[in-house]
Parts: sequence; C-alpha cells; structure tokens
Amino acid sequence: MASNWTPEGWKAHEARHLPSYGDAEKLGEVEATLAKFPPLVFAGEARELKKDLAEVAAGRGFLLQGGDCAESFAEFHPDNIRDTFRVLLQMAVVLTFAGKQPVVKVGRIAGQFAKPRSAPTETIGGEELPSYLGDIINGVEFEAGIRTNDPDRMLRAYTQSASTLNLLRAFASGGYANLRQVHQWTMDHIGRSPWGTKFAQMADKISEALDFMAACGVDPQTVPQLQGTSFYTSHEALLLQYEQALTRRDSLTGDWYDCSAHMLWIGDRTRFEGSAHVEFLRGVGNPIGMKCGPSLEPDALLRMLDILNPGREPGRMTLISRFGHDKVEDGLPKLVRAVQREGHPVVWSCDPMHGNVIKTDSGLKTRPFDRILAEVSGFFAVHRAEGTHAGGIHIEMTGQDVTECTGGAIAITDEILADRYHTHCDPRLNGAQSIELAFKMADMLKLEAVERHKQAA
Ligand code: PEP
Ligand code: CO
Repeated sequence: MASNWTPEGWKAHEARHLPSYGDAEKLGEVEATLAKFPPLVFAGEARELKKDLAEVAAGRGFLLQGGDCAESFAEFHPDNIRDTFRVLLQMAVVLTFAGKQPVVKVGRIAGQFAKPRSAPTETIGGEELPSYLGDIINGVEFEAGIRTNDPDRMLRAYTQSASTLNLLRAFASGGYANLRQVHQWTMDHIGRSPWGTKFAQMADKISEALDFMAACGVDPQTVPQLQGTSFYTSHEALLLQYEQALTRRDSLTGDWYDCSAHMLWIGDRTRFEGSAHVEFLRGVGNPIGMKCGPSLEPDALLRMLDILNPGREPGRMTLISRFGHDKVEDGLPKLVRAVQREGHPVVWSCDPMHGNVIKTDSGLKTRPFDRILAEVSGFFAVHRAEGTHAGGIHIEMTGQDVTECTGGAIAITDEILADRYHTHCDPRLNGAQSIELAFKMADMLKLEAVERHKQAA
C-alpha cells in the first residue's frame, strides 16, 4: 500500500482542470451522499483486471479499450450501450482470431463524463461563457445557467453509471456475449461495409469451429468461457471530488480502491510532477493508465512510474501513447527504451485519436481515418523494431452510425460530416470504422507474431 496517503491528500497538491463550485455547502452534501452510495465495482474485480493486464504486459494478450470521448445524459439509452458493447465484442473477436491471444475488453463507459478542456471559456457571437466540462460538471448548451458547475450532476452521473454497468454485466454474462451469437452481433450499417462481409466470413469459421468442438463434447454448457465474457469499465479519473467519494477500503485486503470503475487513467494534461491527480491515483489499488503525449520526456516518465508503481507490480500500469500519426515513430522509441532499461513491467497501448484532431473548413473537429490507422501502424512498427509487445489500443468509438471521423471504407466525407455528428466532445469512430480498424490491426498483430517466431528461432 502507498505510504503517507489518504483519499483526500490530493487536495494539498496542484490540481489542474478541476472545476470550482460556487456553493461549497452543496458540494459537501453531494460528496457525503456519494460516499454512502454502494461502490460501483468490487476491489476483487479490479484485481482480476490487473491479473489480465499482467498477462498483456508479459506479451500474452491484447488490451482493447474504447468508448465515447464523453458520455452524456442525452445519449443515455440502452440501445447505445448495447451497440457500443457489441462493436467492442466484434472487434475483440477479430483480434482474438488473428492474434491467437486473449483480448482484455475495457469500455470507456459507465463513468467517462468529465473532460479537460484547452480553454476555460468559449465565445460565441460575442458572448463568453465557461467551457463545457462534461455532463458530470455542467451542460453542453450555450446558456449561462447550464454552463454553471452543479454538484448535483455527480449524483446523476453516478446513477447513469450504475445502470449502464448493470446492463453491461447482464450482456457480458447473460447470454448475449455467447460466441454462438457471433453472427447476430453484426449491425445493418456494418453489414454494408466490405468489412461486414469479412466479419460474416470469419463468423462462419468460428461457428464451424464451435460445431466441431461441440461434436467433441466441448460446448457452452461444459465450458463456461464460451457462454460469456469479462468486460471491465474505465474512465479518466479527472473529477477528484467524485473519485474520492467512491474510494473505499477493501474489506478483504485493507487496501484502498477507487470503486467508480475497474481501471482509471490520468490524462495527458494532468500527468505532471506534483499533480493532484497523480497523488490521488498512486494510493488506489486499481490498474492505472497514463496518457503519454509528445511533451513527456523519458526521465519524467520513469519518475512517474516510480511514484505510481514503486513495487513494479505487473498489470498495474498501462502507458497509453498519443503522439499523432507524424510524431509516433520519432517520439515513442525513447520512452519504450527507457522503460525497458529500467525493467518496469507495463502494457503499451496506442491512443491514435488525440494526436490526430483537425478542424474542417466548416469548423467541425474531425480525425481522418487514414491518420488514425497511420498512428496505429507506426506504434506497431516501433514495437517490432524495439522487440517489445504492442499491447493494446485505446479508441474513441461508438456502435452508432455517426459521421464524426472522416474516411473509412464507407467514406465519410467533409461534406456529410454534419449529418450525424452527435458527440459531446471529440469525434468517434463509428461501428463500421471500428471494425475496419480491428481488421487492419489484426494484420499488424500477425506481423508481430511472425517477427517473434523469427527471433525465437
Ligand atoms: C481523452 O482521452 O478524452 C483525453 C482528453 O485524452 P488526453 O488526455 O490524451 O488528451
Ligand atoms: Co477525447
């Protein structure tokens, strides 16, 4: 357990991107209410995920982490939860089939509400208002009353997270994720993409393999792993008032866990030395992610790892690189080498979204699919060259047929971007683009396996 740590100790550190609340009394009441609510996850589950991630760190698995940039109250609907879940399942099947290794599935879901913003205010038509900070803090509509930070929003975010998680648990273990359903997971708009056809062909092969295994006596009745799957939740641990209120001491081990999600990560803007966010996360036992952008120097990264994982526990740390398609091959190797040299066991994951944002002429934020793919491909190339494991992917995606990222096989053009642009924050891959990315990554995983064989021979 971390020494000299308390759940509120972060308050003595520099906190960037935390909202200020006008009504301190109301904030205190909400925090006290949340502190009495049931934890959303159990510490033992966070330990299970850590075990799975330890396998990935050792090169025996792949981490698939994805979901909305920002969950919202408006988009809260069972169909949205189901569709995100099933696209993640489809992606996992593609990656498992190609990589011949387990895929650890972690949603950016059931708690991904708070956002760090580049500017504290936004000006429209001469009027200046505070920026939107995520539905857990204020509202997206450009109105003074709605842009005011409101602690009560934390209670609504908790409730939405609890029922989202409840549905995800039901899907994961109640039969929906049974591999026998693999054909049913395809959605109409994905079916129209050439990758939909490829998925159907792969599903045929899986069904055939399942028939063969059933004939040998191995079926979902005898092997429970075929009936369901493990699915974990994660979000950026940004709103520390909320995270602290959901931090509990585990009755089995006596250790502290942030029970708002299985995995929490530190954003690129809050991972500096002396940060309140780093101080908070160093004391909880969950698996932790850290975004690594172009400004991160190897020495600073090593100091962070020493603070966040002094015991060098495998599965504790996932490093999520987010350089941009044109910077990854330049910037990532020095971080990988430093971590290798010091022997820190980490999962290397690639966020190809946040370094590749551009603005179209019409002013919408987008991410060209080709650049996303180029960053993933650069990430795999770096790991092949360094002899390390490209261990995961971290994406902003949805199961919906949105038009937010340009490109892909059913090309989304600048002209149609506004048609179904629903995100509350950054542009997400739609279902078809997500499946396409999974198939492209499958080829990269195969290449890594070939390289490994060569080195072992
Ligand atoms: C995010 O993941 O939504 C995010 C804000 O990323 P980053 O911290 O890498 O900028
Ligand atoms: Co984002």
